[in-house]
Amino acid sequence: MQLHPVGIIGTGKYVPERILTNKDLEQMVETNDEWIVTRTGMRERRIAAPEQATSDLAYQASLKAIEAAGLTAEDIDLIIVATITPDMFFPSTACLLQDKLGARKAAAFDLSAACSGFIYGLATASSMIANGMYKHVLVVGAECLSRITDYTDRNTCILFGDGAGAVVLGQVPEGRGFRSFELGADGSGGELLRVCGGGSRMPSSADTIADKQHFIYMAGNEVYKFAVRIMGNAAEEALRKAGIDKKDIDLLVPHQANIRIIQSALNRLDLPQEKCMINLDKYGNVSAASIPIALAEAVEQNRVNEGDRIVLVGFGGGLTWGASVLVW
Ligand code: UT7
Repeated sequence: MQLHPVGIIGTGKYVPERILTNKDLEQMVETNDEWIVTRTGMRERRIAAPEQATSDLAYQASLKAIEAAGLTAEDIDLIIVATITPDMFFPSTACLLQDKLGARKAAAFDLSAACSGFIYGLATASSMIANGMYKHVLVVGAECLSRITDYTDRNTCILFGDGAGAVVLGQVPEGRGFRSFELGADGSGGELLRVCGGGSRMPSSADTIADKQHFIYMAGNEVYKFAVRIMGNAAEEALRKAGIDKKDIDLLVPHQANIRIIQSALNRLDLPQEKCMINLDKYGNVSAASIPIALAEAVEQNRVNEGDRIVLVGFGGGLTWGASVLVW
């Protein structure tokens, strides 16, 4: 079977207007700006307005990505939304987005791989285009993490924010586009990062709410150690599969979880910080939305040129990880 080269033909991002600063967090929990900046690199994060849900953020980012691709919503064949904060259990956020966009031709589903979800979505979409099943796929990472964050827990509430990033995938000229994907999971580490309440094992009740089971629980230090190991491993494996040397990377776009985790990946790849897109100081960790927001912002800032070799890499709950190498 003849496989078509597939790449990103449009990007877009949306972040809500409200800014939550480290100073604001100092009023909410026992923490301080200096601790947060030195331990995470974060200074601000965005918080969705009460009337905004994940599909609303996804909608704004998607409009920009579709326009940047020179398409209309009716040209989209499939919508994949990577999220751990869907508007509701069902219908999927992808279906809600399809309706908002008027993307009448598009099939639609959500994908759950936590912070790695966007890279899982790219891998799924690109294989469906490569084999000729679809022409244009909208892949979105969108989150309202503020809705599942316990703002009395200083271990987690300093980290997370809301936002959305979107890309349109389509056929690209020979020599460009995705060169490799590396996806992985280790379900035995699932208990390190999770939301237990509200599912079929622990349905929502007054007790689960009182017990704060509807909020994110994270064993931060364990997740940190996993992240440091897996970010380098996944990026190196994706580079090996692509046949591209790490010295030829033009831009690394990592999951924006912690500046120290990103720095360890840069050390492992022998890359200077100038070759890395970092915006966690402004947006914090936006889970599945972190990588597409960072990529869209790199495009806005003209940091991405035709022919550039780009590495995307992320990790998250599951535990999961994913990396991809592409030529822009
Ligand atoms: O998308 C994937 C999701 N998760 C992640 O990527 C998170 C990965 N983990 C991390 O980024 C880091 O583990 C954290 C930033 C969450 C924490 O940093 P750490 O260097 O691992 O700190 P720690 O958890 O080992 O805590 C060190 C100390 C503790 O005090 P004691 O027990 O030593 O007295 C914490 O209670 O820092 C304390 N601490 C805080 N102090 C001030 C924890 N959170 C805070 C805080 N402000 N917000």
